Amino acid sequence: MNKKVEIFEVGPRDGLQNEAQLISAEDKIALVDLLSTAGFSRIEVASFVSPKWVPQMATSADVLAGITRQNAISYAALTPNMRGFEGAIAANADEVAIFGSASEGFSKANINASIAESLERFRPVAEAAHETGIPVRGYISCVVNCPYDGPTAPKAVAMIAKELMKMGCYELSLGDTTGHAYPEDIRNMLCAVQDAVPDAVLAGHYHDTSGRALDNIVASLAKGVRVFDAAIGGLGGCPYAPGASGNVATEAVAKRMSQLGYKTGLDLVILEQAAQMARAMRSEATT
Ligand code: HMG
Ligand code: MG
Repeated sequence: MNKKVEIFEVGPRDGLQNEAQLISAEDKIALVDLLSTAGFSRIEVASFVSPKWVPQMATSADVLAGITRQNAISYAALTPNMRGFEGAIAANADEVAIFGSASEGFSKANINASIAESLERFRPVAEAAHETGIPVRGYISCVVNCPYDGPTAPKAVAMIAKELMKMGCYELSLGDTTGHAYPEDIRNMLCAVQDAVPDAVLAGHYHDTSGRALDNIVASLAKGVRVFDAAIGGLGGCPYAPGASGNVATEAVAKRMSQLGYKTGLDLVILEQAAQMARAMRSEATT
């Protein structure tokens, strides 16, 4: 058995995007710089979306310009359209992500497009990324249920997964956006997706609203998934998924993986320091 698991740190993006009070670029840079010493291969630090929709991410170019880059780390950015892609390239993001949804309601609420329209917007982004030699990751939100449409059919997730693979995404991150999935839901969804795309391209992105994200990761490990997104300190949520809490906490995933005998290559002491820094940022911002 492959006993390695990669944790993809998404805290500086998914963790912070939902904070109502603006956090300075300097504080975000300090967090990324500390995380950069913890052993990650990939850290999502930016999002080139409309600042009217997600004001917290308006400093994304400053963050990418200000961080002390480690050669071994790929610093990633969300790019919903060509404008976002151009911003990410100008800011020297190492990789970009297009982000779709398996449910129509969330697609509309999050990016103001139907699923079909969103795929048409992603296509030129993926093509431009390939021409520029930039890896593209694909997100699929609401893989189990949607705050607007209710339960998501596993085959709807498989359908989007196939489309994003056809566009050349090197990995697909499967989002339990609302954080209410049960392990059985995750298993059923993975069965359908694994019939459509290769196992090796799948990553789990589980929010922890109902406290089951770690159980969902363990269920995914049994299905062969070896990459999990997590946010330091468990911060965050999506502004367009009402009531959803943060991603599963990176430090909790790293500890559980270690207990289960999986190597993440992460320094647990640095993770604790970074979690404290992230939580302090949040409380300073809200006081
Ligand atoms: P729209 O209104 O349909 O787009 O928004 P538009 O093309 O009509 O443009 C509207 C305005 O946005 C214009 O400005 C554009 O210039 C501007 P105005 O004329 O009003 O001043 N604009 C942009 N500005 C900066 N960067 C851009 C950009 N594009 C247009 N790239 C759009 C479409 C996608 C832009 C909008 O809906 C948006 O920004 N949505 C934000 C979505 C978002 O960031 N959600 C959170 C991240 S996703 C997530 O958290 C889920 C995930 O974690 C997985 C999971 O948990 O499931 C990934
Ligand atoms: Mg998320």
